[in-house]
Amino acid sequence: MDVRDKFLKFFENKGHKIYSSMPLVPDDPSLLFTNAGMVQFKDIFTGKIPAPKNKRATSSQLCIRAGGKHNDLENVGYTARHHTLFEMLGNFSFGDYFKEDAISFAFEFITKELKFDTKKIYVSVHESDDEAFAIWEKYLPKEKIKRFGDKDNFWQMGDIGPCGPCSEIYIDQGEENFNSKEDYFGGEGDRFLEIWNLVFMQYERDKDGTLHPLPKPSIDTGMGLERIVALLEGKTNNFDTSLFMPLINKSVEITNKPYNDKFKASHRVIADHSRSIAFLLAQGVNFDKEGRGYVLRRILRRAVRHGYLLGLKKPFLYEIIGMVCDNLAYHYSYLADKKTYIQDQCKAEEERFFQTIESGMEIFKKELEKTKDIFSGKIAFKLYDTYGFPLDLTQDMLREKNIQIDINTFEQYMNEQKTRARDAWKGSGDEIKNGDFASILEEFGENKFIGYDTNKAKCKILALLDINYKRVDKLEGDGYIFLDETPLYPEGGGPIGDNGEIYKNDKKIGEIIYTKKYFGLNISEVSIKSQIKINDEIEILVDKNRFEIAKHHSATHLLHASLRKILGLHISQAGSLVESNRLRFDITHPKPISKKELELIEFEVNRIINLGLETKIELLPINEAKAKGAMALFGEKYGDIVRVISFGDESCELCGGIHISNTANIGNFYITKESGISSGVRRIEAVCGLAGYNYTKENIEILNNAKELLKQNDIILGINKLKDSIHKLKDLKNKTDDGVGLKSLNFEMIKNTKLIVAEVGESINIKKAIDEAKKDNDSVAIFLISNDDGKINIGCGVKNINNLKANEWIKEISKIIGGGGGGRDDFATAGGKYVDKIIESLKKAKEYALSKI
Ligand code: ALA
Repeated sequence: MDVRDKFLKFFENKGHKIYSSMPLVPDDPSLLFTNAGMVQFKDIFTGKIPAPKNKRATSSQLCIRAGGKHNDLENVGYTARHHTLFEMLGNFSFGDYFKEDAISFAFEFITKELKFDTKKIYVSVHESDDEAFAIWEKYLPKEKIKRFGDKDNFWQMGDIGPCGPCSEIYIDQGEENFNSKEDYFGGEGDRFLEIWNLVFMQYERDKDGTLHPLPKPSIDTGMGLERIVALLEGKTNNFDTSLFMPLINKSVEITNKPYNDKFKASHRVIADHSRSIAFLLAQGVNFDKEGRGYVLRRILRRAVRHGYLLGLKKPFLYEIIGMVCDNLAYHYSYLADKKTYIQDQCKAEEERFFQTIESGMEIFKKELEKTKDIFSGKIAFKLYDTYGFPLDLTQDMLREKNIQIDINTFEQYMNEQKTRARDAWKGSGDEIKNGDFASILEEFGENKFIGYDTNKAKCKILALLDINYKRVDKLEGDGYIFLDETPLYPEGGGPIGDNGEIYKNDKKIGEIIYTKKYFGLNISEVSIKSQIKINDEIEILVDKNRFEIAKHHSATHLLHASLRKILGLHISQAGSLVESNRLRFDITHPKPISKKELELIEFEVNRIINLGLETKIELLPINEAKAKGAMALFGEKYGDIVRVISFGDESCELCGGIHISNTANIGNFYITKESGISSGVRRIEAVCGLAGYNYTKENIEILNNAKELLKQNDIILGINKLKDSIHKLKDLKNKTDDGVGLKSLNFEMIKNTKLIVAEVGESINIKKAIDEAKKDNDSVAIFLISNDDGKINIGCGVKNINNLKANEWIKEISKIIGGGGGGRDDFATAGGKYVDKIIESLKKAKEYALSKI
């Protein structure tokens, strides 16, 4: 059994429920990444949502500490213990046990399960925490318990949120390996390794920094898996363990540089960063210019830069990342499912950076030529910001020349950027967080959704909120309504929330504007005409749009299944919007979906629709559902019992939404658009049902109008006829234009040479035109371009000009227009493809000729 399983089992035996790792991207704008095991429970700690029945929890949580409050990025590779991504083993108590049990469990686990010698165990407590000190004294002699201040022994998730004093457990790694002056317990040395942090959650810190006592003191602990593995494998460095060595060996193999003191840090950075890149990509973060995607980009570029330092000039990281996927697939199966996608994304980004490394070097060299003593801080920032050159790399490159960077200016730019980044992260939705939802939850708990089979219900008003989410007893005008149970579907999983009408004593008294979940409560936004009060009985009628929403929702499931069938199993949902007249489905896929593929996908969905499959709805234990092959969404929280929607053998998904009862109800399905929304994410837009009918109808109308205009039932025949007559007309025009149409072109006389540079119609025979011009003139330079439906033809001729050669002339210009060609000194031809460059080409052709005549 690995340590992870051992830990979870140990706490399960002590009554803890095992939770799976929550997504690395938390549903919290104030937090960049999930940085501790407690993040998925933070609203429980603060009392925003009530604790579950079982108040004990345990998990092995993937964490990223690369930005935000806990940032280890700069240290990775240079210390034995820092990582961008690591796994945190934790046990949690939500107002259940406190210090006594937390300490006793921890001590039991490390001595009995991990079998660490008590002699090697040391602990610290907060300087004010006599209680924790006294408990530890039951297990360890006084001298091995130290009191530290806030810096070491007070833990908080971020600038705001739950926090408290903590107690840390250390293992002595032995004098034999660590004997610096700093290697005493409490010193700066590495000998005493901190392995486990027990946080006694007692406070919540607000925006102003004030601490408020939490409703119920709780426990949050975190133990670094990588550190424990190192201790168990007898290694004094996490990188030397079986978790990292395969990756490091691969890096050695690719770069052909040994894992020695000179190259060690680079290999370690590459190994560490590969893991976080693999997980972030797998969990739907994409390379981006800002926010989380920018952190991902920085991590990748740091790793690539180290590859570059080891002599690589082309993508390599994707190979190591492939290994991360293989090695961790036994525990994180989605890494295997998405391996190709992850590698493709990584490789593309590596390619992008390998391009900018070179350009960055150019900029660097140019600036260096200008530099006397101090290298420009602005350029250093530009290198950092635009070309991904960390400051220390630029410093390194300057060091041998004994040149310093103007750090003040650099920092000024850096601070401006940080402010921009901070502003971008300032969370919205604070007013919602301050709303009175906790008190509703406390009083009534979550309300039931009863709308799967009905669109009408009599309900009782349990609570009312005004537009600022504050509880009121009566409501008229706009506000929010919380019912004992409700037939209104709250936005979620793709489908938008329901709207509808409110009746009291058979009289319509208001409208439901929208329905959504707030901290688990199904609440509707309303506009009320005649006052309602708490405890009123009302009747809700769901808008009939819901049937069309249900069609688009079921069609989304069929689309998802068809995409995986046609494009591959790497497809996963990156976003979904389901409305009554359209659907939008975002998926992870590295390249545009071809027309042919779109046709196959559209056909596939229509095929399933026409099978007329009954919708099967089952409630199953999560493991059974997964075993059945039900697709689950990454990052979605599912309970123990899940709702599974299947359409025959064609589609099976976990889903809490509303569906039609038979695929035939969907009627029809058309893909209306395919586009890219960010790197590696494609968006499909489609319609079905009534919207599908309208879409077809509009297109049929267009065709009918075309028939009328063409006066022809066979549209294709009609268009071909039209094209024919256009060609004939053009021919006629050319014939009347003295055979080649040259006479109408402008020319200039330069010295005794006639210079003609012009765009001509596509039916002109350029060669013939040039011959004519040469025949008629003693000295001529002629350059003609034609555009035949995107296919560009260029011809040029020269007569009696010493310095101007037709083949050189055309070579110079065809570059601009995206083509190539050649010929003789007196005549040359070329092709091209950039229609939008024609004007520029003509201008350049003229300039070129003028410089030679
Ligand atoms: N939340 C605590 C930590 O991250 C356990 O150290």
